[in-house]
Amino acid sequence: MQKITIAIDGYSSCGKSTLARALAQKLNYNYIDTGAMYRAVTLYALQNNFIDSEENIDKENLIAALSTIEVEFTLNEKTHHSDVVLNGINVEREIRTMQISSLVSKVSAIKEVREKMVAAQRQMGKKKAVVLDGRDIGTHVFPKAELKLFMIADPDVRAKRRQDEFSSKGQYFSLAEVEMSLLKRDMADISREESPLTQAEDAVILDNSDLSREEQLEFVLKLIADLQFISREEQSQH
Ligand code: DC
Repeated sequence: MQKITIAIDGYSSCGKSTLARALAQKLNYNYIDTGAMYRAVTLYALQNNFIDSEENIDKENLIAALSTIEVEFTLNEKTHHSDVVLNGINVEREIRTMQISSLVSKVSAIKEVREKMVAAQRQMGKKKAVVLDGRDIGTHVFPKAELKLFMIADPDVRAKRRQDEFSSKGQYFSLAEVEMSLLKRDMADISREESPLTQAEDAVILDNSDLSREEQLEFVLKLIADLQFISREEQSQH
């Protein structure tokens, strides 16, 4: 089967990473969680006091420090998921807090941060056989990806999912709090100047508000099978 690049974009907490992980496992592809990379840079900025209590970012010093920031992934033997590694330290747990969630949009809007992360993503995905999820994958990182998905879901469903995710990690927030934080992040992601979140023209919309994980996987596997069929048809015509 021909190896392809699968780009999954969409709003926060639409189930992108769950689907991306399931697809990567099923197809034996690599999975790159690009949001985790921006979260890792945000953690770095916090640890190095580049963000003050008013949530102002010292952009100048963060940009100057970018050459010393290395973000990679490592396979977690227990969960079989890839964990994010910041300068040699596994920070998978530290990047999933509400504090990082509410700061990450500001950090990810910085042009120089994006340039560095996008270059790393292109390098990691250059051999294809890869699933990436994020906000600008189909529009900017891999505009020639063979399959692009744009995921959407009802705000209530998304907030409930995120709330469950937080509570599974021992962090408890009201639904209203979670929903407010999600909407704030969406607004920041769609309105920023650098590669804002938008749907690629050739992306397939996947609304998973009422779809199980299995149904979503089945839907995408069918799209991939159709793609492979079309490319075989095209080859046989030449
Ligand atoms: O997918 P996530 O919630 O972990 O992403 C965290 C933030 O990073 C999100 O608010 C926007 C930003 N992001 C981005 O700007 N571009 C990407 N490709 C992925 C994430």
